[in-house]
Amino acid sequence: ALVPLRVVLDHAAENDYGVAAFNVNNMEQIQAIMEAAEATDSPVIIQASRGARAYSQDAYLRHLMLAAVELYPHIPTVMHQDHGNSPDTCLSAIENGFTSVMMDGSLEADGKTPASYEYNVKVTAEVVKMAHARGVSVEGELGCLGSLESGEGEQEDGHGAVGQLTHDQLLTDPDEAERFVAETGCDALAVAIGTSHGAYKFTKKPTGEVLAMDRIEAIHAKLPNTHLVMHGSSSVPQDLQDIINQYGGSMKQTYGVPVEEIQRGIKSGVRKINVDTDCRMAITGAIRKVLSESPEKFDPRDYLKPARAAMKDVCIARMTAFGQAGNG
Ligand code: G3H
Ligand code: 13P
Ligand code: NA
Ligand code: ZN
Repeated sequence: ALVPLRVVLDHAAENDYGVAAFNVNNMEQIQAIMEAAEATDSPVIIQASRGARAYSQDAYLRHLMLAAVELYPHIPTVMHQDHGNSPDTCLSAIENGFTSVMMDGSLEADGKTPASYEYNVKVTAEVVKMAHARGVSVEGELGCLGSLESGEGEQEDGHGAVGQLTHDQLLTDPDEAERFVAETGCDALAVAIGTSHGAYKFTKKPTGEVLAMDRIEAIHAKLPNTHLVMHGSSSVPQDLQDIINQYGGSMKQTYGVPVEEIQRGIKSGVRKINVDTDCRMAITGAIRKVLSESPEKFDPRDYLKPARAAMKDVCIARMTAFGQAGNG
């Protein structure tokens, strides 16, 4: 059944595990996640960005999610709005069947400009009031996502134009986090610890200088009962980079968030881990391989089936590593 985020994360907190939140845009991605959850007995968080909703259209997305819970009625499944940019976006998500919404008030409605603390509290508290009245959960975000390595926080996907901020201004402040949760009543809090969206997070395996896991520990000490969320948490595995490059792709060498760092976060209150890039890479690698090895093929199923299977493998690996396997 479709359930609110809170239900899934409360169980995760009681049992010390984390839950991957995978982004989707289409049927095959939803199928890959549900098949992985079935194979591992895992709860599910499926999330759609504003871009995903525009691409897939709300009616298709809503019915695909209803199909997922019809086929797997025993799997607790959350349908989450990723990075809602305004109360209006969150409301339209709820009207389209989402059981959880993220009000990302760390940025203004343009999705680029760092917002004031006061703006963030105002919009997040407004969404909490509206969502809770409808049984829907809310994720807030405090701090700005962006790479500490570049010192810029500038991201390829346009999520952040936070180049003018210093390292410390990007990271979530533990005292402010405590205030923010008290003032908004959000169910989960996304924190900034030096990760960024997309494949190009770090130019080498990240050290504590650029991936501030100790910040999560400091926030957890102030907010032991708040579910923390890690964004930009793809691991960008070498084997997926290699497959893409081996079959005609061109990705420059890059490093993501190591799974063992995420496991460290899960010991300190991280309950939701956002993963999009790894799934995109698995799909693209599998499609490139088929088209390159069998250039005569033109039935989409010939490459979408292996693509779906490759994403399922990534989902199984994360569900297992984060400890949600066996908790469906
Ligand atoms: O927020 C980041 C997710 O990876 C979604 O990306 O906005 O390109 O759909 P998107
Ligand atoms: P990745 O780009 O690391 O997969 O992050 C996804 C994300 O944070 C979606 O909100
Ligand atoms: Na989110
Ligand atoms: Zn994100």
